Amino acid sequence: MIYEKNGVFHLEGNSISYIFMIDDAGHLEHLYFGPKLGETAGDSFRLKPGFGFGTSVEYLEGDPSSCLNDLPYEWSGFGYGDYRESPLEIEDSEGLVFTDLTYCSYKILLSKDAPNFELPHHDGSDEILQLKLADENAGIIMFLYYSVCGDVICRSSLLKNTGNRILYTRKMMSFCMDMLGDLEILTLNGGWIREAHIQKSEIGPTKQVIESLTGFSSNIHNPAFSIYERKATEDCGLVYGFNLIYSGNHYASVQKNASGINRIMQGISPHGLRWELKPGEYFESPECVLTVSNQGFNGMSGNMHRFINEHIVPKYWRKRPRPILFNSWEACMFDFNERKLIDLADRASKLGCELFVMDDGWFGERNDDTKGLGDYTVNLKKLPGGLRGLSGKVRNRNMKFGIWVEPEGVNPNSEIYREHPDWILSDGRNLPRLGRHEHLLDLTRSEVQDYIVEQVRSVIEESGAEYLKWDVNRNSPVTGNKAHQYILSLYSILKRIFADKPEVLLESCASGGNRFDLGMLCFSPQIWASDDTDPIERLDIQKGLSYFYPPSVMGCHVSASPHAQTLRSTPLETRANAAFFGCLGYELDLNHLSTIEIKQIREQIKFYKNYRLIFQYGIFTRTDIGTEGEQWQVSDDSDVILGRFRRISHAAPPYENIVIKHLDPEASYKVTSRINKIGVQKFGGMINYVSPVKLNPGGIVLHEAGKFLTVKDAAEEFTEKGAVLMQGFVPQNLFAGTGYDGRQRLVGDFGSELYLISKKA
Ligand code: DGJ
Repeated sequence: MIYEKNGVFHLEGNSISYIFMIDDAGHLEHLYFGPKLGETAGDSFRLKPGFGFGTSVEYLEGDPSSCLNDLPYEWSGFGYGDYRESPLEIEDSEGLVFTDLTYCSYKILLSKDAPNFELPHHDGSDEILQLKLADENAGIIMFLYYSVCGDVICRSSLLKNTGNRILYTRKMMSFCMDMLGDLEILTLNGGWIREAHIQKSEIGPTKQVIESLTGFSSNIHNPAFSIYERKATEDCGLVYGFNLIYSGNHYASVQKNASGINRIMQGISPHGLRWELKPGEYFESPECVLTVSNQGFNGMSGNMHRFINEHIVPKYWRKRPRPILFNSWEACMFDFNERKLIDLADRASKLGCELFVMDDGWFGERNDDTKGLGDYTVNLKKLPGGLRGLSGKVRNRNMKFGIWVEPEGVNPNSEIYREHPDWILSDGRNLPRLGRHEHLLDLTRSEVQDYIVEQVRSVIEESGAEYLKWDVNRNSPVTGNKAHQYILSLYSILKRIFADKPEVLLESCASGGNRFDLGMLCFSPQIWASDDTDPIERLDIQKGLSYFYPPSVMGCHVSASPHAQTLRSTPLETRANAAFFGCLGYELDLNHLSTIEIKQIREQIKFYKNYRLIFQYGIFTRTDIGTEGEQWQVSDDSDVILGRFRRISHAAPPYENIVIKHLDPEASYKVTSRINKIGVQKFGGMINYVSPVKLNPGGIVLHEAGKFLTVKDAAEEFTEKGAVLMQGFVPQNLFAGTGYDGRQRLVGDFGSELYLISKKA
């Protein structure tokens, strides 16, 4: 609900309120963003500046309470006394133009009457508040847009040059907001195969910036961030969440001034931006997503998850189960032919996979990553029956067919580059350096757009693909205007390809999570989270992402052990348990599976199919169990599935208490553990305590036996009331080396456990 009363604007969501007002000087003063309040004049939130501060500048002559630097705003300019960072910078031929945007009018528009935005927006609000601000001296008007969607507020801005000279937008944020409080910030940082690692720090007088300059939303700094009161935990305390519906260079900053006001803003990165605005022209910002919860980080995450599942991902895929896929990449890399793929498809189908994805290496001269990228003509040496032949054979094995493309990149050693060397993205002055032996295509050129649309559509048509993996594997050589135009062009290409093919499942990928953002999610219902499939590394990556993105959008695969990037050996059950909390897939050479592993995978897939909707769309929450492990759960009204992951195990382990959330206190629940299958070789020489014949702990017999003989792990099966389980239950104790009778939990290093908690009728 959105309404205005006596110059105070109220935006109310299911559980949140956002309030601001127009002050005497015509500026938009921020009053409140927090748990829902109902109607209030908002007076108690107004700051009472008294006689201002020594060096401050008075906005209204003679009024010491009008020092802009010490008041909280919804937007701000520069040159009139607010010395904090401004969300807007414009230039004319003489240089920086001071701006002071003051209120003119407002309208509450029905969504259907909202401006025709070029950038993707959410689709969950019936009405949009449009505020018009103007600065006649600067010759601009600014529209600020606000909408409410469940427990989320979306904001964006639109600048118009109303003067008669050319202006340049040097910086324009999507939103700016000032608020009081002793706050901290949580950000997601990293790099390739190390995406979305959490970092927390205090917000103080030193400005902190989250920015990407790679041309993509980046694996270095994800645009999502959270601000929270210091004492906030996973389940308690006030936590704000922010994200941007944009896939390119982004920027956010937080800083606290001497009066204790935190300024927060987010938008497109201003780096290199100089967007020409002729008289009458507009510049549009991406939409920003803001939420708040007084139920800790999990409350904030829940708001973001619902918003994405219900109002960001393409309509066709909302709440639709995502298929369990097999991907050929880690099994074959570039080295495959039809026989090998069909053999894998056979095996994948028998395991229960539903979609077979042929990854990189199927076209042109693409036998390694130095050649052929961009030439989407099938390699008939590898696939004599073409895409049609292969996909038909896959479908005969009762699976859907998916295919990989990297339409934005080309190798210099490719037909397309030789024909059109001028299609390469560059700043126009320098020859771009290669990344993974590739250039990017200049998507802003209409002939390049047509080429990509035509190539990708014909790949889909020829193969009848039900799934497309859209990859890109290098950062951009451009910044500023060109980088922004690139993203606008990418969105337009995606629209052209998929508008009439909503049922084709698009999985976006950028060397893993180099473009994991809400902009891509508007087109692609899931994103390959990381090229790192080691489950222990994935704990950090998936946990970080889970603060802002639901499991339904994260591609998570089980791969081989020892892992190719970490050389770490992990149990197959842990690899699956971690991948369950996302869109499950398998990506390993199925020829090398032991009898036990085949059985395990069949059971994993069967289990996941039974609970897939809860894993993908249930309420996801984290429980803080310290740095040595992670505990995650997903739930719906009747079931909870709880995963507990251990990094390193310790001798003489203490008792544990497993707390379950989101239960009906009055209902009865059956708690069952999913039994881990543990090969006998795990016990090494200890097996000789029970074995009738003495075995060499490092010998072939024990090694081979471990492929089909397992030991019994502790099983939990009991019934208890929800109210009790929410306080926790004490599971069987962990194995401690002093004896084993089948009742001990054999978790060990990198081990994990999965519990199913089902409501009894
Ligand atoms: C990077 C992706 O993240 C991988 O999954 C794989 O598709 C390779 N590119 C193929 O080149």
